[in-house]
Parts: sequence; structure tokens; C-alpha cells
Amino acid sequence: MLVLSYTPRELFCGFLIEHKREVYTVETMKDFYEKHLLFCTQVKAPEKKCCSQASAVTMAGYAKSRLKELDMHGPGKIRVSQSGCLGRCSDGPNLLIYPEGIWYTYQNQADIDEIIDSHLLKGILVERLLN
Ligand code: FES
Repeated sequence: MLVLSYTPRELFCGFLIEHKREVYTVETMKDFYEKHLLFCTQVKAPEKKCCSQASAVTMAGYAKSRLKELDMHGPGKIRVSQSGCLGRCSDGPNLLIYPEGIWYTYQNQADIDEIIDSHLLKGILVERLLN
């Protein structure tokens, strides 16, 4: 059995409140979500680069709608969440997919469609959008 020795804080990059350290297995994670898409939607001062400048909220909403259409969103499936700063502002907009720990960037809905169609549906990385 593959054992992931991350705390929830490490798994979700500070998205969740830190819990006491436990060992999470792949099976445990699937009790919640098979995959988690974290769209950084951090807003910073206008002179600083941040993911919100790239329609991150709109793109997160679009991804969620698309996954709902495909019946892929919800418990035991995939969850789309908006997160605070993921610490790679100059590389953004950033989308982080767990449990793989894959970083993507995107510019438009076509990029989000490609990530869903390739990465999420076929398990094939979208190399041109890797970040
Ligand atoms: S603002 Fe998105 S990673 Fe910092």
C-alpha cells in the first residue's frame, strides 16, 4: 500500500487548519476527494503580481461548472477550491492539483478545458501548461 506521510496542512498548502500529524493513505484521501484543484485567487496590491489579475475566480468557477457537467465534482470525486497565495505569484496564475502535486498555469477557458480533458479524464499531463 502506498502511504503518503503528509499532514493535511502539507497536503493542502495551508488551505486547511493544521491538524495533529497523522498518516494519510490513498484510501483515506478518497474518503474525501479523489483529487483537489486549488486555484489561487489571492488579491494583492495593484503593483504586485497576483493570480487574481488573471481572472482566477472566473476560471475556478468555470472549472467547477465543467466538472459538474461531467458529473466529476463532489465527494469521492474532484473538488475545486479557491486558495490564498500559493507562494509562486510571479509564475501565476497558478492551479495546483492534488494528490499529484502538479502545478499548472492557464490563460483562458480553453486551457482549463485541456487540463480537465487531458489530466483529469485521461491522466495525461498537459506539458505546455506545466508550471
Ligand atoms: S498570488 Fe497566486 S501564488 Fe501568490
